[in-house]
Amino acid sequence: MTTPPTAATPPSWLPAWTLEQGRELVTTLFGATFDGAPAGTFSAPGRVNLIGEHTDYNGGLALPIALEHRTHVALRLREDSRVRLVSAQGDGVWEADLEAVAPGAVTGWGAYLAGVAWALRQAGHDVPGFEAAVDSCVPFGAGLSSSAALEASLAIGLDALLDLGLGADDAGRSALAAVCVRAENEIAGAATGGMDQAASLRARDGYALALDCLDGSVSHEPFVPAGCELLVIDTRAPHSLNDGQYASRRATCDAAAAALGVPTLRHWLDAAPDAASAVADAQARLDDDVARRRVRHVLTEIDRTRLAHEAMRAGDWSAFGTLMDASHESLRVDYEVTVPELDVAVGVAREAGALGARMTGGGFGGSAIALVPGGTSDAVAAAVVAAYAERGFAAPAFLTSRAAGPAA
Ligand code: GLA
Repeated sequence: MTTPPTAATPPSWLPAWTLEQGRELVTTLFGATFDGAPAGTFSAPGRVNLIGEHTDYNGGLALPIALEHRTHVALRLREDSRVRLVSAQGDGVWEADLEAVAPGAVTGWGAYLAGVAWALRQAGHDVPGFEAAVDSCVPFGAGLSSSAALEASLAIGLDALLDLGLGADDAGRSALAAVCVRAENEIAGAATGGMDQAASLRARDGYALALDCLDGSVSHEPFVPAGCELLVIDTRAPHSLNDGQYASRRATCDAAAAALGVPTLRHWLDAAPDAASAVADAQARLDDDVARRRVRHVLTEIDRTRLAHEAMRAGDWSAFGTLMDASHESLRVDYEVTVPELDVAVGVAREAGALGARMTGGGFGGSAIALVPGGTSDAVAAAVVAAYAERGFAAPAFLTSRAAGPAA
């Protein structure tokens, strides 16, 4: 029996593995499951989004960093079209034939990987079957893009073993990200928007990825928050992106854009003199209160992301933190994707001295991030643990990370 956490339970930290550790784990798992050795090992990071939430599928802006926490894969191509997969986090070997992979035809965690091979084939590449062993220090279901890390690790691996050359530059990586999005949307059945795959494949070590989802363009902004550190709080509140809530937010936004006569809400924002009038005009034209609030979130969040990018460039972390706080409030009140665990984590982190704090990722559980003064992560984490214990929530877990490098 596990002991329920108390206010005095020390915070539990989830360290990132080194590349060597990850490589060794998947190579050993590969050897124990399939005969012989893999042809190569590859890895791809999870991410946290600093700001710009639920904007990607609205043609908006996002500002993620890649985490040091990565998913590792040991990979070998086959002569036939069988796919055989093993995961240190799963049970037994997941098997399918690539010829039979199609939307709705496969289920389970293997769908994310078989989906990548399927989507590469759809893009015109000749992809044979393969064996793969995977292991990860990206926590699952924590809103830190464990699915994108899984997809991207295989995409970069197949790219290398098949000599496709896509991993060599940003245009190729953007094509690989699109392949991963198709795998997730069409084969795994999660209607996500593409930010996670872009972060995992296109981020740069030491930089935040300024992603413009209208045209898919990126720029790289040094992420060196002077005097601060980034604390990631995995609330351990269950989180899923294919249970209908995420898709329903997306559908509301699509319907609102159609009602406003624009292809995306970003177009509506860009056509207005400023964000405030874009919101006011949209509110006047939409007759549903829920749609009005969802749209207000999206329009103001895209604007906040633009301002946060400017604050980052100027090294104004206090302004950046204020924008993080406003983003969380908008996600809580207007977009309604937070849960009590997220709101408590954010509130406690602010009281404990954070410059700003917000949920990150899709919401409905998952993780929060806090920008805290350097050297205070431990104290902030302890305060969150105590607050969770008081409320009877499951014990949270914590990560720290610099802005790390992409799939390789
Ligand atoms: C999830 C999705 C992303 C994005 C975020 C919300 O992480 O996978 O595409 O929509 O939620 O910003």
